[in-house]
Parts: sequence; structure tokens; C-alpha cells
Amino acid sequence: MEMRRCKVDEILSLRHDVLRAEKPFETARFQGDDESSSRHYALFEGGSARVCLSLLQRNLSIIDDSTEIAADNLCVRRHQLSEISEAAHSEMAAGTLNAWQLRGMATATEVQGRGLGTILIQYALNDASSIGYSSYFWCNARLKAVPFYEKNGWKCISEEFDVPGIGPHFRMITRFVNR
Ligand SMILES: CC(C)(COP(=O)(O)OP(=O)(O)OC[C@H]1O[C@@H](n2cnc3c(N)ncnc32)[C@H](O)[C@@H]1OP(=O)(O)O)[C@@H](O)C(=O)NCCC(=O)NCCS
Repeated sequence: MEMRRCKVDEILSLRHDVLRAEKPFETARFQGDDESSSRHYALFEGGSARVCLSLLQRNLSIIDDSTEIAADNLCVRRHQLSEISEAAHSEMAAGTLNAWQLRGMATATEVQGRGLGTILIQYALNDASSIGYSSYFWCNARLKAVPFYEKNGWKCISEEFDVPGIGPHFRMITRFVNR
């Protein structure tokens, strides 16, 4: 197996099979995939991607507990941030948190549950953190995938919300710490 950054074209087929199987192939392309700051990662076996994920620079607003939010607003509450990071004081002072959005996390059906998703997410978060933009990562997690993210140290920061055509989701966040 080989794990590395890759081009988005190398993972579209896996994304489509696992995340958009019932939909046209083009729905496996996401807005932002081709931004120069976006990073795509995969674990390959025999030349095919078996696990993939993408990271897009998408910042979050930091808001106070008293502020009302709509489910689709890209924000994190101040206390949620302090819960995931004792070292977040400088980030919390600002109104915006530099952050990466994790998208397109997918493991080929026949190799799910073998620890490969965990290996790739650790590798990608470590690599992306190292460029100095941000070590905060968030995602809109499918309800079924929430235990996977929790096992990897992510926390829910929203109520459940619906993504039309896909289903119930929770927004989750983590801060990568190199141990
Ligand atoms: C979620 C997903 C990416 C996890 O990848 P993976 O390679 O299977 O993950 P791992 O083997 O590292 O799993 C570690 C933990 O995640 C959870 N998990 C793994 N596969 C799961 C599944 N299909 N459903 C629910 N939880 C799962 C388990 O808690 C597992 O812990 P355990 O081994 O102690 O039971 C993968 O199952 C997948 O592609 N699912 C379908 C697509 C999807 O939902 N993607 C996420 C979109 S937000």
C-alpha cells in the first residue's frame, strides 16, 4: 500500500462508488476541489485508491454562546473551541478561525473497518498542519460516520441537520496535535 497526496482525478472514482453511488459521476466533484490550496490524499493498493479524503481551506467564525445560529452557518462557539484546545487563546481572540474542511472521506466498502481510514486521516491532518495555515479541521459528518470521527478525537459542534439528498449530519471539529 502507498499513502500520498494525489490529484483529485485519482480519487473521483472511489468518491463516486462510496459517497455518490446512486448519482451521476460528476456529483463526485466538489466545489473547491481545484483551488490551489486544496489538498487531496489517498491510500493506494495496486494502483487504485482504496481510501481517500480532501482538505479545503474553509474558515469558521467564532461566536459567543448567546449568539443564535442557523445550522448551515460556518461557525464554532467559543467554549467549544476551548474544549478541544487548551492552547486556543490566540485563535479565540480573533473573530475568525483559520481552518480546513475535511470532505469526501471514503473507504472502499470491502476494506471498511480495518483501520485504514484512521491511518489516512492521521497522515493527512499531520501533513496539512505542517504547512502552518491551521491545525483545526472540521467536517459535516454523516450520522453513521460520527463514531469514526469520535474515535479519532473529533467533537460535534452542531445540532443534527439534514443535507438534502444525503441525510442527517453533524458538524464536527478537531485540532491536530503532533504527539
Ligand atoms: C466512515 C469511513 C470513512 C471510516 O473508514 P474506515 O477505514 O472504515 O475506518 P476505520 O477502520 O479506521 O474505523 C475505525 C472506527 O470507525 C467506526 N467505523 C468504521 N466503519 C464504520 C461504518 N461503516 N459505520 C459506522 N462506523 C464505522 C468504528 O467505530 C471503527 O471502530 P472499531 O474498529 O473499533 O469498530 C468508512 O466507513 C466509509 O467510507 N463509510 C461510508 C462513507 C462515509 O460515511 N464517509 C464519511 C462521510 S462524512
